[in-house]
Amino acid sequence: MSLHPSLDGLMDDEIVGVSGNFSSGEREPILWVQNIHKPPLGQHSKSQAGEESAVSAAFLSDVHLGSKTFLAPQWEKMVQWFKNDPLAKTVKYFVLTGDGVDGVGIYPGQERHLAITDLFNQYGELARMLEDIPDWVDVVMLPGNHDAVRPAEPQPALDPEVQQDYSNTTFVGNPCDFSLHGVRILSYHGKSIDDFVATLRSVTYSKPEMAMRAMLERRHLAPSWGGKTPLSPEPEDRMVIPVVPDIFVTGHVHGHFVGDHKGTLMVHSSTWQDQTDFQRMLGFQPKPCILTVVNLHTFATESIDFV
Ligand SMILES: [Fe+2]
Ligand SMILES: [Fe+2]
Repeated sequence: MSLHPSLDGLMDDEIVGVSGNFSSGEREPILWVQNIHKPPLGQHSKSQAGEESAVSAAFLSDVHLGSKTFLAPQWEKMVQWFKNDPLAKTVKYFVLTGDGVDGVGIYPGQERHLAITDLFNQYGELARMLEDIPDWVDVVMLPGNHDAVRPAEPQPALDPEVQQDYSNTTFVGNPCDFSLHGVRILSYHGKSIDDFVATLRSVTYSKPEMAMRAMLERRHLAPSWGGKTPLSPEPEDRMVIPVVPDIFVTGHVHGHFVGDHKGTLMVHSSTWQDQTDFQRMLGFQPKPCILTVVNLHTFATESIDFV
């Protein structure tokens, strides 16, 4: 059950419906609100990939390559899994939801935390590491707030100059709504989770899935203007969720979650970065090195821990 808005709070700028009564006898009628309504969200029935395809998608986010806290030995373990595990043979797609590299100049003093201080070398090294993944796997890569694109959302795909080092990789914007074998996937890096944590009582950094539920319930990925999520004023609001997805995936806060919300499979993808000094200061414990694999026919999920 979702908390009622009166208990959970409302996001700045979110659009709600209200019902109530106008007081009579006043010169300026006053609307006495009895209830607040979000867009109705019924039980979603998922489209599945055909049985014959037996195909899976693997989800990961926030690799943060170039940072000193990138977990290289665990990556090697994952590469071995991709090459040898029977389940890996079914993985046709590897969806990376942003912060593929740690970037340069993202926050003051970042140089101290970087193992690779050149941005192009970070992307080059990420391309090299993805080469180790078997070639039956196609990579889909979104940018995040550490990537070399504008921070304002919606973010465009990475620059062609960066893309040229990569093979088997499709570069998309953030957010991106795409379909794999008929399964509709809404992928979003998740920067606005920071705003949901700051505003709604039900959402904390250890429960990013509550922010994802709140986004689905509002049909909007980032409703608040002027908060922690930089937004670009576009002619059409691309952060709206016009169609309820079969799979909704985010990253950004370095947690991990797999579960259902009203028929949508929600995946909060894990990171490949160990706890940073900043997270230690905040007392936040990330959940790194967990690969989430989803069978696109049965929607059976597997969370494989490489720590
Ligand atoms: Fe990140
Ligand atoms: Fe991020």
